[in-house]
Amino acid sequence: MADKGPIGVFDSGYGGLTVLKEIVAQLPAYDYIYLGDNARAPYGTRSFETVYQYTLQCVEWFFRQGCHLVILACNTASAKALRSIQQNDLQQLAPGKRVLGVIRPTSERIGEYTRSGSVGVLGTKGTVQSGSYVIEIEKFHPAVKVYQEACPMWVPLVENNEYETEGADYFIQKHLQNLFAQSEEIDTVLLACTHYPLLRSKIEAHLPQGKQLLSQGEIVAASLQDYLQRHPEIESNCTKGGKASFYTTDSTEDFDNHASRFYGKQVRSEHVNL
Ligand code: DGL
Repeated sequence: MADKGPIGVFDSGYGGLTVLKEIVAQLPAYDYIYLGDNARAPYGTRSFETVYQYTLQCVEWFFRQGCHLVILACNTASAKALRSIQQNDLQQLAPGKRVLGVIRPTSERIGEYTRSGSVGVLGTKGTVQSGSYVIEIEKFHPAVKVYQEACPMWVPLVENNEYETEGADYFIQKHLQNLFAQSEEIDTVLLACTHYPLLRSKIEAHLPQGKQLLSQGEIVAASLQDYLQRHPEIESNCTKGGKASFYTTDSTEDFDNHASRFYGKQVRSEHVNL
């Protein structure tokens, strides 16, 4: 078996750092390597083929860094690329390695949160149009009704540091109204994009009373812990030095200036050409 390596965590940009933060909090012993494809973000408005090609390139890069396990901490990439990579590419690229996403673990757990049996999913256009949440939630919780709303302006608001402005209030209110216009029964609203936790306080402020908001970081971290316990053949190939390193396909200066808002502490990134 090839050398051991860190666990890879991927996002189109900064959003996956909200997931990595929770993973590191729950599983601090492992080494992690984070890649943000900032030069090509956002992914949310791009076609299936483009998101698939970009994500595949990034996964290949992680494998070259020695990772045996890669988490796509991006709903858009999980929705549009994960299945193809798992079914078509992995066998040829690196048969013993694994790539996991964030949609399945979240869908598995969502039934524990809703009492009314109606949930709202807020995500990028790509995630919503893929129907991935509707399909996955149906598998685990056939009685749960899923209502979706695409929020195409939310990622640009976050990426451009406009998430605390009146502009953000406008777009948050607009999409929450659209979601609840579909059904007032919705009692649980899932932030199905790893960028959205940064908008959390504003979303909460506009959320009708009695509705709960769910973000994915803790759910994904718990699911990873469970996965590592169930798969010793993968776990034993993950190094345990308690280190995290950060890479971006764009400017490291921009990455380092933005990343702390998502990760909760200062990071120092390196540039990577794919
Ligand atoms: N963070 C990504 C997600 O979870 C979306 C960002 C993008 O559009 O690139 O879907």
